[in-house]
Amino acid sequence: MNVEKQIRDLLNQMTLDEKIGQLHLINGAGGHIPDHLRHTIAEARIGGILNEVNVETVNELQRIAVEDSRLGIPLIIGRDVIHGFKTIFPIPLGQAASWNPAIIKKGARIAAVEAAASGVNWTYAPMMDIGRDPRWGRVAETLGEDPYLTSVLSTAMVHGFQGEDLKNHDSIAACAKHFAGYGASESGRDYNTTNVPENELRNVHLPPFKAAVNAGVATFMTSFSDIDGVPASANELLLKQILRKEWQFDGFVVSDWASVRELIVHGLTANDKESAFEAISAGVDMEMASDTYVRSLKELLDEGAVTIAQIDNMVENILRIKARLGLFENPYTDPAAFPTIANSFHLEAAKQAAVESAVLLKNNNHLLPLSQDLNSLAVIGPMADEPYEQLGTWIFDGDPGLSQTPLRSLRDTLGQSMEIGYARGCKSTRSRGKEDFPEALELARKSDAVLLILGEESILSGEAHSRADVRLPGNQEELIAEIAATGKPVILVIIAGRALALQNIVDHVDALLIAWHPGTMTGPALTDLLTGKVSPSGKLPVTLPKLTGQVPIYYAHKKTGRPASPETFMHIDDIDQGAPQLSIGNTSFHLDAGYTPLFPFGYGLSYSKFHYENIHLSAHELTVGESLTVTAQITNIGGVPADEVVQLYIRDLVGNVTRPVKELKGFQKIHLHSQECVTVEFQLTNEDLSFYNRNMKQVTEPGEFHVWIGGDSDTQLRAEFRLVSP
Ligand code: BGC
Repeated sequence: MNVEKQIRDLLNQMTLDEKIGQLHLINGAGGHIPDHLRHTIAEARIGGILNEVNVETVNELQRIAVEDSRLGIPLIIGRDVIHGFKTIFPIPLGQAASWNPAIIKKGARIAAVEAAASGVNWTYAPMMDIGRDPRWGRVAETLGEDPYLTSVLSTAMVHGFQGEDLKNHDSIAACAKHFAGYGASESGRDYNTTNVPENELRNVHLPPFKAAVNAGVATFMTSFSDIDGVPASANELLLKQILRKEWQFDGFVVSDWASVRELIVHGLTANDKESAFEAISAGVDMEMASDTYVRSLKELLDEGAVTIAQIDNMVENILRIKARLGLFENPYTDPAAFPTIANSFHLEAAKQAAVESAVLLKNNNHLLPLSQDLNSLAVIGPMADEPYEQLGTWIFDGDPGLSQTPLRSLRDTLGQSMEIGYARGCKSTRSRGKEDFPEALELARKSDAVLLILGEESILSGEAHSRADVRLPGNQEELIAEIAATGKPVILVIIAGRALALQNIVDHVDALLIAWHPGTMTGPALTDLLTGKVSPSGKLPVTLPKLTGQVPIYYAHKKTGRPASPETFMHIDDIDQGAPQLSIGNTSFHLDAGYTPLFPFGYGLSYSKFHYENIHLSAHELTVGESLTVTAQITNIGGVPADEVVQLYIRDLVGNVTRPVKELKGFQKIHLHSQECVTVEFQLTNEDLSFYNRNMKQVTEPGEFHVWIGGDSDTQLRAEFRLVSP
């Protein structure tokens, strides 16, 4: 039957209580079903349940909904399946470092299959907030700082979760979150207020959400934060104007956890009734965790503040997704219809994702891959053998028992050919005592090389876990300095949930690999990379600052009226005592940190080397609306085969609003044998050249453009073209 007719027919039979029930999303009771819950479901006063993952319980909940309630409407069953279910993939920020939509789609597919086997039919992912402030703990859940990269990768995740057809037994509905601007939480403190002008909102924060609508995402979640004085869960501009009117989204919008009731705490409303009114008027269809709708909707209807047409519309949005999920035909889950959890195919994909996520930032004297001549290796650090801590944030269903740690994998693989010693160095990444230093130093002194595995435990990033200082926590910087002083070659692998400020330690180490939280298969992935079985291919999805005080620092910044340059930069140590104030000729930099990051967005080395040349455009003048072909030649000039992420950037030189100095508009991950040369081709479309102007209209303006192709956002291989009016 036609879905729209099916939901209309159903709606016509529903009582007001049953309609209100559909709008209500409650937390599960943890594997059992108390009597009051049975009654509430049988009376159809609940539309969905989150955090219930026992398949027998979920099937029984569905049975009550379908058989014991008057109209038999099935439940939607939600869970935060963020980077894997049982088989844990790298955190989203790590996956983003792979710049590989195919592996990301595969990861989401596997997560969906494992989750769907438990009866889950809805995930609260992908998170597509723009992460430009590493203090914010939730950068771990982002796909990085860039609107284009985030759009492409979150689209891949939506496709992975939702599969070929939402109706398939192993497809789950995705949720684009957090709509919108949450990534701009002031000072990176979670839940904090945001200050995002509408133009920036449209040009920077919204593109991934729009891409998710185009990808067919089933649901949206509002953000906890307020934006321009209006919390997202009461924000008509976001939900009504942009999401429904401009983008024509026809799925449903869920609030974040209790964010409707929290409108009171924000100081937007005085009581639950006002909160329900604000959220409904803005366009929040389903209320998560709090119950202001259940408590106040009838009164709001009686008073005429809310109309039955509004409620019908909200219910229809929810029923539409339940119908698309095929829940009316089959609400039950047969675990036997699914492959084994964490099977070898799933683990191999998780390993591949972890391999591709690691970013090599430094490799002096080709210290990596590890030489076969090494007789002994000192593995040191509190992250080297911690099955839980390598998994990262949001792993409710992850099983640390499946984790393969670096120490164990290295010993399994290399233990026969070299002596692998181990010392923790610090009790945890946060500990300040130095009592474990001597053992680590002694081990370093008697070994040929040192492999430090440091970083942040899982709990130091993620929701509500922001940090004001994004250096390595605890006494890890000191440990690095003391290990370096032994004179042994030092390789540092960082396992962490954010971009860290590494200026203090980068010169102490010979090789540096950022692995983020790589998940279940951390050990085998790192072993393959460290031994050179594969070459690192990850690229930074975020800019790495030198110091915390530089953040937010991102490559697509505005030029300003006084951009910094090497000629105008002045270091604090070079200022004469008593120097007079002079603003003329001054530019935008920090006296103590300059204006450049430690490593730029898009950066990452491999065990080979790539040379870029011959950037070529299909035209140097084109008419607005036409596409442009941009090519460049890339050669692997190193001695080993390796992957490279070829990146395309543009700059619109003059705009109705100021434009970023560079914007990513394309990327391709290619594999080249030693000495192989290829021509890589990109198409730049009218859409790629467009932006939102002062009137919030998407426009493509005639004028001069620059275009670059290269291996990171600092690339200098540039061409130019002019866009003319039709
Ligand atoms: C988070 C969401 C999450 C929800 C449900 C909230 O605290 O902000 O991202 O999906 O909880 O667990």
